[in-house]
Amino acid sequence: MKSHRYARRVLELKMPSEDSAEIISFGSGEAYPEGLPDMGDLAQKAASHYRRETMQYSAWLGLDDMREWIVEYVAHEGVKVDTDQVLVVNGAKQAIDLACRVFLEPGDVVAVTAPTYKSAVRIFRSHEANYLEVPLDEHGMDVPALAALLADRERRGQPMPKLVYDIPEFHNPTGITMSAQRRRELVALAERHQFMVMEDDPYRRIRFEGEAVPPIQAFDTGGHVIGIGTFAKLVAPGLRLGWVTAAPDVIEKLAVVKADGGSCPLTQRLIVEYVKAGRLSPHIQEVTGIYRGQRDVMLGAIRRYLPETTCRVPHGGYYIWLQLPERISGDDLAQAAIRRGVRVLPASDFYVTSGPANFVRLAFSYSSPSAITEGIRRLGDAFREIA
Ligand SMILES: Cc1ncc(COP(=O)(O)O)c(C=O)c1O
Repeated sequence: MKSHRYARRVLELKMPSEDSAEIISFGSGEAYPEGLPDMGDLAQKAASHYRRETMQYSAWLGLDDMREWIVEYVAHEGVKVDTDQVLVVNGAKQAIDLACRVFLEPGDVVAVTAPTYKSAVRIFRSHEANYLEVPLDEHGMDVPALAALLADRERRGQPMPKLVYDIPEFHNPTGITMSAQRRRELVALAERHQFMVMEDDPYRRIRFEGEAVPPIQAFDTGGHVIGIGTFAKLVAPGLRLGWVTAAPDVIEKLAVVKADGGSCPLTQRLIVEYVKAGRLSPHIQEVTGIYRGQRDVMLGAIRRYLPETTCRVPHGGYYIWLQLPERISGDDLAQAAIRRGVRVLPASDFYVTSGPANFVRLAFSYSSPSAITEGIRRLGDAFREIA
């Protein structure tokens, strides 16, 4: 085949594979199909009654009603912003991409936890970023370790990170939540070294137990945090709608590089009508109950079929980060599992360089309880095949 003269930044990038319907998927974090909301009545209203708004280009920053709702929503979480600090985007991944466009030159450094969200890494790669990997413990990103790494870089005259990316609440893939103390320390470090914290927070409301910690942005007084929210886990991933909260000047730059004439007003109106009708809270309550049940089924199946493994019980989110005995590689297990019709993601997908290989990530969000039990049973067989 003819080879095209691609830009260097895309040479290493590949499409992730998609699973056929027969595969039991614990792979990507998709919503449980039975839990998706029926928005047919609101879609009719949005496309008909509101057509003068929804069939036009939207305002660049998003619909006023949408942004006003987002201001109120984040205020409940402790983040105080005005509407000029809100940009509506086509999902959290677009927000990450825009932040990279605004802040990174090729070769600039992004600090990430090891491991971290693999789609974010794909985006950083497309911006030709370099990385600083920061360890993670049970309190979240190890901010004292980051401080030591930064002090060392400063001493050696090495480039300092411009962006620090994290998922502080129900971290993907590990499920860990960052402590309030660490959040405070991270903001102080951002102030000191003048980097931006990209706070990607899709799972905050999918909480099964325990008390929420305020977002990192709630601790920030210097405008060093880019807060990223999404309706993907709150309502439905297919809507492709999310938001950014940041200082007004950052919002302006993000809006300018977005350059698509504003996110789809039809989808925004659909969501505005959904939240105004009071349907969001009951929906979140319903899906949280579903995911808690699916998590528990998966944990039970793991105890039964994979007693050689260990995991931290996630208090929210979509994932279990399963630790295998040291000699077993997640890559080998993922391959053996797919031969038995089960998709799991190996640890290697979540490191920008390399890390311990003996983990796999299991999403309990998508599959029914019976499919979860069957999938874990097959994963147990795959494990014994390679062990
Ligand atoms: C950490 C993280 N960020 C963002 C997203 C979702 O992004 P989007 O709103 O683009 O669907 C996910 C979904 O899996 C995620 O795990």
